[in-house]
Amino acid sequence: MSTKGIRDFRPELHFSPKTGWTNDPNGLVYENGRYHLFYQHNPDDTVWGPMHWGHASSADLLHWEHHPIVMAPDELGMIFSGSAVCDIENTAGFGKDGKTPIVAMFTHHHHTETGDDYEQQSIAYSLDDGMTFTMYEGNPVIPSRMRDFRDPKVFRNEQKGCWGMVLAAGDRVHFYASKDLKSWEKTGEFGPEGNYSEGVWECPDLFPLEVSGETRWVLMVSMGPNEANHGGRVQYFIGAFDGDTFTPDGRFTAPEFIDSGFDNYAAVTYYNTDERILVGWGDNPVYAGDTPTNEFCCVMTAPRVLSLVDTPLGGVRLAGRPVTDNAFDEGTPSDGTLPGEVFKLTVTGEGPCTVTLSNEAGQQFTFGVNEANEAFIDRSKAGARDFNPLFGSDWYSVITAPRFYEGGWKLELTFDHSAAELFLDNGTRVFSQVLFPDAPFTSVSADHAAEIRVHVLK
Ligand code: FRU
Repeated sequence: MSTKGIRDFRPELHFSPKTGWTNDPNGLVYENGRYHLFYQHNPDDTVWGPMHWGHASSADLLHWEHHPIVMAPDELGMIFSGSAVCDIENTAGFGKDGKTPIVAMFTHHHHTETGDDYEQQSIAYSLDDGMTFTMYEGNPVIPSRMRDFRDPKVFRNEQKGCWGMVLAAGDRVHFYASKDLKSWEKTGEFGPEGNYSEGVWECPDLFPLEVSGETRWVLMVSMGPNEANHGGRVQYFIGAFDGDTFTPDGRFTAPEFIDSGFDNYAAVTYYNTDERILVGWGDNPVYAGDTPTNEFCCVMTAPRVLSLVDTPLGGVRLAGRPVTDNAFDEGTPSDGTLPGEVFKLTVTGEGPCTVTLSNEAGQQFTFGVNEANEAFIDRSKAGARDFNPLFGSDWYSVITAPRFYEGGWKLELTFDHSAAELFLDNGTRVFSQVLFPDAPFTSVSADHAAEIRVHVLK
């Protein structure tokens, strides 16, 4: 079994490919009772390579069924990231016999030996519930010779009664509109000025959420591997979208990320769901290719339902609730032991507190709230780390984020073999991270008075 890992680290509640490599989630669309997850996929190796769209689907976002690859590199290039929509009104004309097409829009990445790579936008459609796709013969629908011009996210633009799309273009995003998903017109731009992260922007998303009876728009953008940001992370902005372009309400004092942990990149949301559901690539691009997981490499984050919350210390912030909560029971008071490698902990308390998970190998994963009212996680002693110098460094081991609340707290940790997510303060802080303990964590303790409940799978 093992090619590089010390034991089986495959999670049960987080998606991982059967074999080979994955990075970004793509084409997230709900149709006919199934959540589809297409994903950046190299089927022939456990590192990044010729990009295909892999495919899985699920009825509950917890258990995934694997399906055949739907798109492979062709004469226009590799199949990079993108999105998918249900074309209920058959605006593109791909529908047949009353069947609603799923239309995917993605980037064709053209690779040249001379290094003059370029990226163009293409579409493909499915008439069999996402199982197979046919390339549109008019591709590319947005021709270009730009190098960093990718990851189209299509949405319904209600203001203009057409399709909208947001695309990463170098160090900014572009907005587009279309009546038929084939012919696109650019309507605006946002970025890169101000205190926003430097570097290439990737995988944008734009969607409305309600807060205090008002609609605000959230623009999320993955900010490529950037040392200051602890690698690749997803920044977000809150503002207005007038149908053409995005205007932020103001600036956060520092770049604000959808996740305070190390491992959530290229995150985007589902199309055609009542709730706004987010999935990210659950690894960090700076070390993902070296993670010690044998026949597959990389996982997706736990899907998360997003909302906006008006917080006492931070104003309006993005918040999330993990769908994995649906998998666990009500919980029982902890006796200090842990039940296997899939569990949830709910820890309540007030003031500084460090919670420690330990194993027989003397390794520890810690998290909690510090004296400065910051939440933190520390995976510096949590298991294998020498497979990559960055993963093993302090910068990628301990991370803190200020809380948006004072006083009592509730820390909720989901642990799934090698993927752990910590949620606190109504999900306004989330830390997603991977870790590779030599042996299962078997005990839990807290260094200050706290109530610990242990939840097992239902
Ligand atoms: C983000 C990304 C995207 C691109 C894809 C290629 O991780 O770089 O911008 O489309 O991965 O695999």
